[in-house]
Amino acid sequence: MYKTILSIIIAAIVLSNCADKEPALTFAVGGAPNEVEYWEKLIEYFTDSTGIKVTLMRQPTDTDQRRQGLVIPLKARKNDPDVFLMDVIWVGQFASSDWLLPLDTYIEADVIDLHSFFSNIISQVDMYNGKLVALPVYNDCGLLYYRKDLLEKYRFPVPTTWYELRKTAVKIQNEERGAAPHIYGFVWQGAQYEGLICTFLEFVASNRGGITDATGNIIVHNRENIEALQFMKELIHRDAISPPNTFTEMKEEEVRLSFENGHALFERNWPYAWGLHKRDESPINDKVGVAILPRFSDGTHAATLGGWHIGISKYADTPDKAWQLVKFIVSYDIQKKLALDLGWNPGRSDLYNDAQIKKHMTHVTVLQKAFENSVARPNLPYYTQVSEVLQRYVNAALSGSITPAEALERAQKEIEEVAQTYHE
Ligand code: GLC
Repeated sequence: MYKTILSIIIAAIVLSNCADKEPALTFAVGGAPNEVEYWEKLIEYFTDSTGIKVTLMRQPTDTDQRRQGLVIPLKARKNDPDVFLMDVIWVGQFASSDWLLPLDTYIEADVIDLHSFFSNIISQVDMYNGKLVALPVYNDCGLLYYRKDLLEKYRFPVPTTWYELRKTAVKIQNEERGAAPHIYGFVWQGAQYEGLICTFLEFVASNRGGITDATGNIIVHNRENIEALQFMKELIHRDAISPPNTFTEMKEEEVRLSFENGHALFERNWPYAWGLHKRDESPINDKVGVAILPRFSDGTHAATLGGWHIGISKYADTPDKAWQLVKFIVSYDIQKKLALDLGWNPGRSDLYNDAQIKKHMTHVTVLQKAFENSVARPNLPYYTQVSEVLQRYVNAALSGSITPAEALERAQKEIEEVAQTYHE
């Protein structure tokens, strides 16, 4: 009798020790604070439906800081985090560093149809050396948010060119300053970080400029880009319709909060801002409209292609569970939930025909248009270094410490040095 009890106790201890040693599935997520909160709830739901426990690794909003937070454990071959979200611009680099677990065998075993996703994005971003290394969670594109009530009050249409936007903003800012001394015409991401490259690309591409030439070489020093950068600088210094902290502080959340608190007429931001602006507690929830970004007179509309993809670490100690989580997040139902609850632009193309999505995501037609005009950042393994140089010079031009022409000329030289080191 005693022997039996003793062996039961020993077995229980051994089992509980094994359970303790079972490696945890760790998932790194970041974004705006409401997005991180949302992931917490979604993960609970995942655990309830699969029995798989997940430890969340909470990351900041800024994409550059999020990247750092992943590169450190990956370089050190740590087995956590097992799963993470990647900015569209890092996937190529993570894959070329051999940090991503190929997903092909899982996709085949679970008979997942990749045609349900945007095939151009899958082939350009998620495939590396013929292997699938990531899947899209959502696609981002730059949008123009505006105050419907103020445009109506002063009888201005939604601007379609940058000159119209400037004229409208100057007029309404001047008129409104009496009642609202803190109001600015236009807020956008100008701080020295990746978001500035996204804004810069939209201005230059809508002036027939760009960051790469037809053969994929980085060319930033040209007339169209100088003109566009000059225009961006003038918005802050000459027209004074963008606040002086544009180049020191303005990132996604600073811009979003400024507009949401009634301190701006126009805002450049990503689709996530729509969900937040439309919340009941948002002071402008019934006053906000959304449109595609303006263009220069002889340019075309442009929206930087952003977005976040999910992948599994090559060093994951729970790869099968990690796959269960990836599968859950990219499933039709969860993608639909993320689109309806957070206003995200789904990574799956099959969702755009969903009746509920069409009915409740009132901005989906604008998203589609912006998406059609999207411009990608160069997909290079050394993109981070190129971006770092450009961030520094574009930001210096915005601050006024160097002219736009000089900034782009110097950026061009440094970028060529970076490319050369890489190709040596
Ligand atoms: C958004 C985009 C991402 C971009 C970042 C810049 O998160 O999805 O692609 O790099 O903003 O701040």
